[in-house]
Amino acid sequence: MEQMPIEILKRDHRKVKELFIDLGDEKDFDDKKRLAERIFKNFETHAKIEEELFYPEVRSVSMEGEKMIEESIQEHNKVRGYINELRDFDGGLVEYENKVREMQQVIDDHVAKEENIVFPFSEKNIGEKLNLGLSAKIMAMKAREMI
Ligand SMILES: [Fe+2]
Ligand SMILES: [Fe+2]
Repeated sequence: MEQMPIEILKRDHRKVKELFIDLGDEKDFDDKKRLAERIFKNFETHAKIEEELFYPEVRSVSMEGEKMIEESIQEHNKVRGYINELRDFDGGLVEYENKVREMQQVIDDHVAKEENIVFPFSEKNIGEKLNLGLSAKIMAMKAREMI
């Protein structure tokens, strides 16, 4: 059975949340960095899917939708900034963990906003049109990006 696009996006959110828990438990610095890279890749694919497939639909609803998406993209870009910093990071473990925690907070806030505001807004205003073929496009993009 075909899944609703929003269900797929929510599942991605839960996956990243779980990976952050694993990351907190990981003691070895190199393994931690490898696990962090999985989070980055998951985030990047998810953000690309939202920005290329989902956000344009929300944007087209109204000025309110437009504004919501502007903010959401700024939040994605803020996370991308953290990802760049963490990929280039060559300091110690404690400093690395602090930076990761800052990034996690930004992601948590962004996810909460999507699930409490953006997704309900899109379900209310786009509804059926949103479900038409969008899931297939999302799954195809996921397959291309290999997550
Ligand atoms: Fe997002
Ligand atoms: Fe999202």
